Amino acid sequence: VEATPEWAAEVKRLARERGATLLAHNYQLPAIQDVADHVGDSLALSRIAAEAPEDTIVFCGVHFMAETAKILSPTKTVLIPDERAGCSLADSINAEQLREWKADNPDALVVSYVNTTAEVKGLTDICCTSSNAVDVVNSIDPDRDVLFLPDQFLGAHVKRVTGRTNMQIWAGECHVHAGINGDELTAQSKAHPDAELYVHPECGCATSALYLAGEGFVPEDKVKILSTGGMLDAARASHAKQVLVATEVGMLHQLRKAAPEIDFQAVNDRASCPYMKMITPAALLRCLVEGKDEVHVDLEMAERARKSVQRMIEIGN
Ligand code: 13P
Ligand code: SF4
Repeated sequence: VEATPEWAAEVKRLARERGATLLAHNYQLPAIQDVADHVGDSLALSRIAAEAPEDTIVFCGVHFMAETAKILSPTKTVLIPDERAGCSLADSINAEQLREWKADNPDALVVSYVNTTAEVKGLTDICCTSSNAVDVVNSIDPDRDVLFLPDQFLGAHVKRVTGRTNMQIWAGECHVHAGINGDELTAQSKAHPDAELYVHPECGCATSALYLAGEGFVPEDKVKILSTGGMLDAARASHAKQVLVATEVGMLHQLRKAAPEIDFQAVNDRASCPYMKMITPAALLRCLVEGKDEVHVDLEMAERARKSVQRMIEIGN
């Protein structure tokens, strides 16, 4: 199946017929982003899913995102074009491991990145995304110990910004972002000294970016650690000629649409998420024709997880 105008028209017709809204994450293939009703980062999409008037949500993203939509709207039908679209970061901690960690730290508050399974969310006090992680941690009583999971690089970023010392961080990572390393970033930013740098906090190179700024290789105001939604806001406000982008390559599509006059270049053009890319034009068409794959979350588990997700969508932007 090719992403032709006919394909797009058929996708839109089938979605209307089902009374469905189509959501797509910023890392989706360009054709999927262009056919969607809403494109955004994980926090924005969670908010849209929670408020959508439609009875059916078709989530073009990875499984934990669709699951989060189902947790927020248990009476809605939530479809994902391919339920095998997982996430290496969400896989880096399971419920059993979290139970043990909590047992060792019984008084600590648990903050989980939204990239986790529903079961892990059910053992969590507050969820966060990359765009509100700092606000979420700042909202917690400074005397209370915090367990932050599962991403070590986002955790290190939050710890740095909040200055919090009573915060333990799980050693998980996203294989796509961890692979965008400091050497590549250093080489690219030295080759393009006038470019701004947008770095997603899940990147292995987030620390290197701050080092480059600290050592004066890149002016401090040119290095920005941002969620995917934050990158779009920054691009719209920027006067830069060139921006080097350290995140999954799907992001370049929305950035180029938001600020066509800026030359956006990937720090690592092999940083493509194989899970995000499982949502192909063929998979989306099949999903709308067959009403599959439907996302189910056990009702009790959803109930437990909902509180932590609701606090996430209420805090920060
Ligand atoms: P955000 O869209 O929240 O920045 O998340 C990035 C990500 O890796 C989602 O899988
Ligand atoms: Fe998970 Fe990383 Fe893919 Fe995002 S880019 S869905 S964190 S594996």
